[in-house]
Amino acid sequence: MQSRSPSVPYSENKHLLRWVDKVADLCKPAAVHWVDGSQEEYDALCSQMVAAGTFTKLNETLWPGCYYARSDPSDVARVEDRTFICSLSREAAGPTNNWVNPYEMRRKLRGMFSGAMRGRTMYVLPFSMGPVGSPMSQIGVQLTDSPYVVVNMRIMARIGLPVYAEIDKAEKRVVPCVHSLGAPLEPGEADAMWPCNKEKYIVHFPETREIWSYGSGYGGNALLGKKCFALRIASNMARDEGWMAEHMLILGVEDPKGAKSYVAAAFPSACGKTNFAMLIPPSFFKEQGWKVTTVGDDIAWIRPGPDGRLRAINPEAGFFGVAPGTSTKTNPNAMACLSRNTIFTNVALTPEGGVWWEGMTDMPPARCIDWQGKEWTPALAKETGAKAAHPNSRFTAPARQCPSIDAAWEHPDGVPISAIIFGGRRATTMPLVYQAFNWTSGVYTGATMGSEMTAAAAGTVGKVRRDPMAMLPFCGYHMGDYFLHWIGMQKRLSETPRIFHVNWFRKDEEGRFLWPGYSENMRVLKWIVERVRGQALGHESPIGWVPAYSDIEWGGLDFPREDFEKLQRFDRAAWRAEVIGHEELFLDLHDRLPKEMVYERELLICRM
Ligand code: OXD
Ligand code: MN
Repeated sequence: MQSRSPSVPYSENKHLLRWVDKVADLCKPAAVHWVDGSQEEYDALCSQMVAAGTFTKLNETLWPGCYYARSDPSDVARVEDRTFICSLSREAAGPTNNWVNPYEMRRKLRGMFSGAMRGRTMYVLPFSMGPVGSPMSQIGVQLTDSPYVVVNMRIMARIGLPVYAEIDKAEKRVVPCVHSLGAPLEPGEADAMWPCNKEKYIVHFPETREIWSYGSGYGGNALLGKKCFALRIASNMARDEGWMAEHMLILGVEDPKGAKSYVAAAFPSACGKTNFAMLIPPSFFKEQGWKVTTVGDDIAWIRPGPDGRLRAINPEAGFFGVAPGTSTKTNPNAMACLSRNTIFTNVALTPEGGVWWEGMTDMPPARCIDWQGKEWTPALAKETGAKAAHPNSRFTAPARQCPSIDAAWEHPDGVPISAIIFGGRRATTMPLVYQAFNWTSGVYTGATMGSEMTAAAAGTVGKVRRDPMAMLPFCGYHMGDYFLHWIGMQKRLSETPRIFHVNWFRKDEEGRFLWPGYSENMRVLKWIVERVRGQALGHESPIGWVPAYSDIEWGGLDFPREDFEKLQRFDRAAWRAEVIGHEELFLDLHDRLPKEMVYERELLICRM
């Protein structure tokens, strides 16, 4: 690459140049830096952040190429109540999204962004969601005053020179994304370690396909390719263009004969998508030759292929995973993946210059610095309950470093999807696994999904909320129309994937988890892929097809039949309450609820 000043544009696209000038005029940055995406640039930005105190370089021997950041304590998770879908009409956004009149919001944004980047550099960050040049990919450009965002985005997306080349070909519409920390610096003013603003606005304009994010430097609020583009804006594109943008992991399952099936699975945030995507089969399965490979852990873009089957890509290039609970026992692939070239945010810092979080090792370190920069010891934790790592602390790690990464993970045409799995975190009611009767009843299963809330978003942890297809915080339009889009997809396909529901989190009367989870989920996954291939038995129940004890492979695990029966139990009283819960969601959506959802509910009630 020829060297040149980053203040000189890399693109010749007139629209892009004009837009960059316009935003610079509004935000008044001290400098503009056109991001080339090189390793040299990444290293320089990281060194700059080390000098500024935002980053700590970790011990190079223990954690090669890794950095550590602590955010402001007020900026630790997605802010759903500050997230807006500003479609032209309130109805288009639907009752599950926050809506503000777009004209009013634009006026507000103009005021907030005016001078917002003073004293800072504005980075022009072109990115491709999906492999550069793939027909399934989309392009965005994020203007941001956060170098933390630039380096995280370099891991999470394809960025820099090859993307300018795509933009200059001008074959694809570019999604403009403007992001400011909302923390202008006056001359001579010392910068904060984690600049941000108390006021936060994460704003989407679906019709013009635009994103404006203000006040936060963290995760899904600031890495705009992820939730804002790849889900909220992309769900609008997908509806208009006949494809699907989903909050789903993608994994491959290969049987001992070498037959491979790909599966996509939607679980709400922090419910184990990363662990499931990187599952290592138990020894019994490995010895027989079963393999699981990873395509993605959070988002799937799915489209009908020329053969009428759904094909999916992972639009991301990295994993922005929840750290607590990740260990060599629970997810060895993730631990290998994050062992180098990774950015850690809000975990704990050990005296050796390493990182630690709850659940990483059985024995905590004797002392460390917690996510708020305070001294932490196991004794203190016992006394006060203080966590060393924030429950939503994260690692940003390159997907290509994952030992289980699938050979086709960057295939421009994606991978064929044979099954779709929905699942939530449910202590009661939901069995370990069932298969929906058909596509429409599967859509009903996904549409009525519920899950106990986690720390991934601000809110009450543990409360069950309806989270249709795990898309409640991410669908960029009316949820009723989204269900209709799902139902309508069937007409575009020659073969629909089979749809399943799983729950790894059911508990017994004493509050103990009934299912060991993690690797053992392979037993459920095997039943699922064999059902898809017509190789496994299912038995009819009021909610769908279920396995009998003898339909599951138990080799290498002593799991009593009565425990399996507890896991699979259909509890009529609990399902009565469940169906009433479905109705609550449907009441909110009634004006655009597809009639198929009403009929499916009636059929379910009749079967019960
Ligand atoms: C995520 C989330 O970060 O869903 O993936 O919150
Ligand atoms: Mn997610």
